[in-house]
Amino acid sequence: MKQKEVPEASVIPENKLITFNFQLSTKMKLVFATNNKHKLKEVKEILDNQFEILSLKDINCFEEIPETQNTITGNASQKAHYVYDKYKINCFADDTGLEIETLNGEPGVYSARYAGKNCSYEDNVRKVLKKLQGKTNRNALFRTVISLIIDGKEHKFEGIIKGEITKTKKGSEGFGYDPIFLPAGYEKSFAELPANEKNRISHRGLATQKLINFLKTL
Ligand code: IMP
Repeated sequence: MKQKEVPEASVIPENKLITFNFQLSTKMKLVFATNNKHKLKEVKEILDNQFEILSLKDINCFEEIPETQNTITGNASQKAHYVYDKYKINCFADDTGLEIETLNGEPGVYSARYAGKNCSYEDNVRKVLKKLQGKTNRNALFRTVISLIIDGKEHKFEGIIKGEITKTKKGSEGFGYDPIFLPAGYEKSFAELPANEKNRISHRGLATQKLINFLKTL
């Protein structure tokens, strides 16, 4: 009987070898429920790679997140709950407002659309400067509230920075009201400060730092 031919052990040439580079991320994954690319960039910089931050796009969420509450805390909470309830993924959302003393806290929760629906950052800045024309009290503060939902439980963090509204725009960094906000103790507006300096002292930076400290306890 003819012996069955045993095929020679084949050697795969080095250049045909397929290698798989699996990187198992042990970092905690969190969705930041925002469509604002400036905020996403700032928060990623502040979190400094310690957590894996996913954007709404990363989870295929392309819809407008409702923001219909009349407080900053209410809006942050509403946005985080919306994403958690729909996608069942741990997430956080923030909401920020600029509160001007002599305007009884305006624009506050209406900071994004102070000059009207679909207005630009520039329109809002112009409206604030106009409303403060001739006013000596220019005290203001930025307030950020972050709502974090982990396994269905909500945790809130607040960051506040006090300062003044300048008479004219200064600087071109940042976004929103940055060119007219002078943080207390500084001679430069938020829009004149380098990003890492703004992040270190800002409302969002402080709230995010509290968020990080909490996440580290989990
Ligand atoms: P939001 O509702 O949290 O997106 O913020 C409302 C508005 O506040 C934004 O549209 C901006 O005009 C303004 N805002 C939020 N964060 C900042 C900031 O860090 N610097 C300046 N303006 C900001």
